[in-house]
Amino acid sequence: MNHAVEAWPFSVRPLTPNLGAEVSGIAVEDVDDRTFGALYRAFLRYQVLLFPPQDLPPGRQVAFARRFGEVQIHVMNQYHADGYPELYRLSNLDENGKPTGRHPDKGTMAWHTDGSWSRVTGQATIIYGEVMPDRGGETHFCDMYGAYDRLSPAWKSRIAGLRAVHNLDFSRTRRHGEDPLTEAQRLAKPPVDHPVVRTHPETGRKCIYLGDHAEYIVGMPYDEGRALIEELNALAIHPDLCYEHRWKTREMIVWDNRCVLHRATPYDEATQGRVVRRCTVLGEIPA
Ligand SMILES: [Fe+2]
Repeated sequence: MNHAVEAWPFSVRPLTPNLGAEVSGIAVEDVDDRTFGALYRAFLRYQVLLFPPQDLPPGRQVAFARRFGEVQIHVMNQYHADGYPELYRLSNLDENGKPTGRHPDKGTMAWHTDGSWSRVTGQATIIYGEVMPDRGGETHFCDMYGAYDRLSPAWKSRIAGLRAVHNLDFSRTRRHGEDPLTEAQRLAKPPVDHPVVRTHPETGRKCIYLGDHAEYIVGMPYDEGRALIEELNALAIHPDLCYEHRWKTREMIVWDNRCVLHRATPYDEATQGRVVRRCTVLGEIPA
């Protein structure tokens, strides 16, 4: 695709030579269809879009997310926020606004892609920063098109046609042994398999589709599949294919889960507050 000639109806400032752009000069909550069309093309081109600090009440965040498609109602209903089951809030603050010392979701600190544990996986995630720590609590993104392109021919042929089983119960229990899924949540989200190399349905480009929810490889001994996933997850992260975002309060970021892995970095949960709310738009069954 050649987007170099596109005249965007807003300002676009690339964040790295590879992925990520800051979009400014538009009011997110009042985007007309033509502008949204351009925004969506920018989303496909840059994979991660950053919007400068602005007020974005929960209802407007959900309304904006609906422009992308159907919004996921997350199975882990303990995170639902503000009366909107579409919103998922991660907070380490108690009801008095004091840090609890408890990280709300340790799973976010491992490279992953949202909703890969579902048959219909995540398309866009829209995240808004309500409270941000002075240090840490960054969000990092890595381009999985580039990660696939950089694989050796031997790796590409080794993984061609393989399918990985993604399992929220597996990743949750591994990172959150003290706070696993409930039985009802487990039953609602049985493991599903997806191709290890996925073709993005809109750009037509191939990318690695694994991350922390991927548990084992279909048709391969469990330990061998685990080892392959661990190796490939590590191999997929290249510093020069990453964008590392240090948050300002009230920023919003939108990314494409189909071609990007992301993770949050640690912060001091005992002394610093971090509150984000996010929603994930449902995409399609990966192919
Ligand atoms: Fe995530």
